[in-house]
Amino acid sequence: MCGITGYTGINQAGPILLEGLRRLEYRGYDSAGIAIQSEKSAETENGSAPASSIKMLKATGKVSHLVEKFEAEPDFKGVCGIGHTRWATHGIPSDTNAHPHLSADGKFAVVHNGIIENFAEIRAELQKYGIEFKSETDTEVIVQLLAYNYKGNFKKALMKTIARLTGSYAIGVISDEYPGTIFAAKQASPLIIGVGIGENYFASDITALVSNTKNVIDLDDGEVAEITPDEVKVFDHTGKEIDKEIRHINWDIASAEKSGYEHFMMKEIMEQPQALKATIEPRIKCETLNCGDTDLSIVFDEIKGLDMKKFNRVHITACGSAYHAGCVGRSIIESLCKIQVEAEVASELRYRDPVMDDKTLVIVISQSGETADTIAAMKECKYKGATVLAIVNVVGSSIAKLADHCIYTWAGPEIAVATTKGYTTQVAVLAMFAVWAAGELKTISHGAYTSLILDIMHLPERAQRALDLNTKVKKMADKYYDNQSLFFIGRNMDYAVALEGSLKLKEISYLHSEAYAAGELKHGTIALIEPGRLVVALCCYEKLFEKTVSNIQQVKARGAEVLAVAHEGNRSIFQEADDVLLVPQTDALLVPVIEIIPLQLFAYYVAKKNGCDIDKPKNLAKSVTVE
Ligand code: M6R
Repeated sequence: MCGITGYTGINQAGPILLEGLRRLEYRGYDSAGIAIQSEKSAETENGSAPASSIKMLKATGKVSHLVEKFEAEPDFKGVCGIGHTRWATHGIPSDTNAHPHLSADGKFAVVHNGIIENFAEIRAELQKYGIEFKSETDTEVIVQLLAYNYKGNFKKALMKTIARLTGSYAIGVISDEYPGTIFAAKQASPLIIGVGIGENYFASDITALVSNTKNVIDLDDGEVAEITPDEVKVFDHTGKEIDKEIRHINWDIASAEKSGYEHFMMKEIMEQPQALKATIEPRIKCETLNCGDTDLSIVFDEIKGLDMKKFNRVHITACGSAYHAGCVGRSIIESLCKIQVEAEVASELRYRDPVMDDKTLVIVISQSGETADTIAAMKECKYKGATVLAIVNVVGSSIAKLADHCIYTWAGPEIAVATTKGYTTQVAVLAMFAVWAAGELKTISHGAYTSLILDIMHLPERAQRALDLNTKVKKMADKYYDNQSLFFIGRNMDYAVALEGSLKLKEISYLHSEAYAAGELKHGTIALIEPGRLVVALCCYEKLFEKTVSNIQQVKARGAEVLAVAHEGNRSIFQEADDVLLVPQTDALLVPVIEIIPLQLFAYYVAKKNGCDIDKPKNLAKSVTVE
């Protein structure tokens, strides 16, 4: 939610900031802006010194609009600046509300990601001192308060200012009195510093920096960084300088590029076999025994200290697709570990006063590792004494750091707002965790344990075969794209996939779509079924196939058209559905990893056919760092 970036060095900051914003645009795209400490030569028309050397450019809409404005301003020059791409929280998307925001005296400019909860109180106080506010944003209080607190020492003023803020922030600030210096600070919103040679950067995440540097410093909550071209100094909340480690990122630039694909979403859908392989392979141990047989096991080096015998229940929490992965995880863990498992959306759990204690294992799932509701829920669970295990994709993210234990999905950077490889690798980790935990708890036979591991090892290749449905799915999308209201139905694992398939479709195509447990339709929703409605019936969970077929017959009797997804080898489905997509067979507990793939492709092609902006769907942002 909002992307921020900054640069100080010897090169022109404008193009570097705009490139960073282009890469961060998936975090928000309703307006964008940059501020630059202009070069000494930049003077006012009559030759006198400018009132402020900070120059700003802002544009409502996408970063491309800002680029157009920038290209029309050849004098917009300077080697130190900050930039922002916005997902509006306070005030409509407009040039005035776009960041950066400037202090009334024009001496400071700030970019901010997060929410200042006590902004109204600070704003009222500053207004009493005669300070005029230009925007409706919460952010503007930061820069006005900073200017108010400034008595000749930038760092001191900033520390005093952030001590007054409540809520979440990652900020970058420049001042016209400190050429080449950027200050950055963070609390509960992501911010990393990129370390270069003779030039340094900051950004909300590595995608903005990876083309310039792979050496980063993770700023932690409460810390402040002073960034100049040659040096990065980090201070704790008391102002004491601290040593920070430089982390080397191994992402290559291709990870942050479309690599020939029209959209990141398609690239990421296609990357799933590789992402699954990277997530699964390092955790499978294959030993050759004396007798010549091989022994397979799951090894999670990262959770060695986690004693499963300590827990009498598991609670899974997350948001959106990560929650849907959690619903799958609930069934797998419960089935294999014979332990009570609940799954709940984090935005509900955080306010529900759930019953849990030190015998509860809480599994939080998040691709970004920065989702505000998930962070709040996990804090609540920790407060109640639960042990928190996080399943996260972004290394070093807030959730990864806050958790007691963390398993990373190795999906690589996910840029498209609609998650695809993020989701499938989460399910793969949950499946591996369930098998591992069942082994620890001795609730699984050796045969079942080995057979499941073998099936897990086959997931990348089966995902690849599911991707071969690409052309066929496109034809289905061409046929059904103008259905204004769709239903996804399924039972058990198929129902969990229905939830995810439906979300995928609605978030990028804006079509009304609902997921229902197939048996639940007749309790009300079937009233909405009428001739021509498309019902996507998920039929891979074979134990309940006949039951789902009954539900298919019920909707067909009312005129619905049915597109079914079933396992290869299932011939009877052809008698029931209008169209069928067959996916490779896998263990019932692993069905979601494979079955979701045609649904991701379906959502993609339906959205494309409807002319939607697939990577940047309206009203959404990739990383939801606000409540
Ligand atoms: O980064 P997270 O996994 O915590 O994000 C959770 C949800 O915001 C996310 O899955 C969202 O639902 C996606 N847009 C779905 O494609």
